[in-house]
Amino acid sequence: MFDLKGKRIAVVGGSSGIGEGTAKACAEAGAHVVIASRSEGKLKAAASRIGHGVETATIDIRDDASVENYFAAAGRFDHVVMSAAEVRIAPVKTLTVAEAQTAMNSKFWGSYRVARAAQIADNGSLTLVSGAAAVRAAKGRSLQTAINAAVEALTKGLALEFAPVRVNTVSPGVVETPIWSGLDEARIAQIKEMAKRTAVGRVGQPEEIAQQIIACMTNRFMTGSIIYLDGGYLL
Ligand SMILES: NC(=O)c1ccc[n+]([C@@H]2O[C@H](COP(=O)([O-])OP(=O)(O)OC[C@H]3O[C@@H](n4cnc5c(N)ncnc54)[C@H](OP(=O)(O)O)[C@@H]3O)[C@@H](O)[C@H]2O)c1
Repeated sequence: MFDLKGKRIAVVGGSSGIGEGTAKACAEAGAHVVIASRSEGKLKAAASRIGHGVETATIDIRDDASVENYFAAAGRFDHVVMSAAEVRIAPVKTLTVAEAQTAMNSKFWGSYRVARAAQIADNGSLTLVSGAAAVRAAKGRSLQTAINAAVEALTKGLALEFAPVRVNTVSPGVVETPIWSGLDEARIAQIKEMAKRTAVGRVGQPEEIAQQIIACMTNRFMTGSIIYLDGGYLL
């Protein structure tokens, strides 16, 4: 559907879930893809699932030097996708401030670090990933609302600062990925039940988010956009 032949693309968080789905779709569309995350084991496993000669890079988005050194050595990319994050979902009163800051440091400051360090070609793009919590608050998710809203606000400023590089954010609803691996059966059943009440009546799949991320890369008129991709969860 999209031609990315010969394009050089980095997917930070490409060892799992939405990032892996995006890396796979880019590789299948002819791009040279690098997937980056912390775990060498997860990267190798994802690279072998994806195939197409995808390369791997070990970086930690919480660490300034790790992100800066990688992108300085890696050179210029046509497109960069940032879907890496590790966040805690819990009510404000049950998390320490340090735990909340750790989550913000991963997803928001991680996005900021990648945006700051990545070298992107003038006709290229940066795509960030937020989450529907940014605009639909829920009890026990105040921190998620704040982190994702911060990523979305950053997108708009970066689109102006980085032009002609285009900067967009895809905001997913509930998507079935390994992010669920820490949840018990009862919680997963509850999530699936909630998804049944959305307009599409089901949870999303990583390849559905990947399709939109690739549209952000390839649509030359799209910048500063926040795309809500949630099967109607926000309605
Ligand atoms: N799935 C959903 O329902 C959903 C809904 C709304 C928003 N989102 C957002 O979508 C994004 C992707 O989520 P997902 O569901 O695809 O999650 P996932 O399957 O858990 O993947 C997360 C990725 O981030 C990497 N990562 C985590 N911490 C890192 C760090 N410090 N440095 C480098 N890489 C790191 C992980 O690899 P390593 O462990 O190897 O580092 C993994 O590749 C996240 O921002 C998430 O908040 C997801």
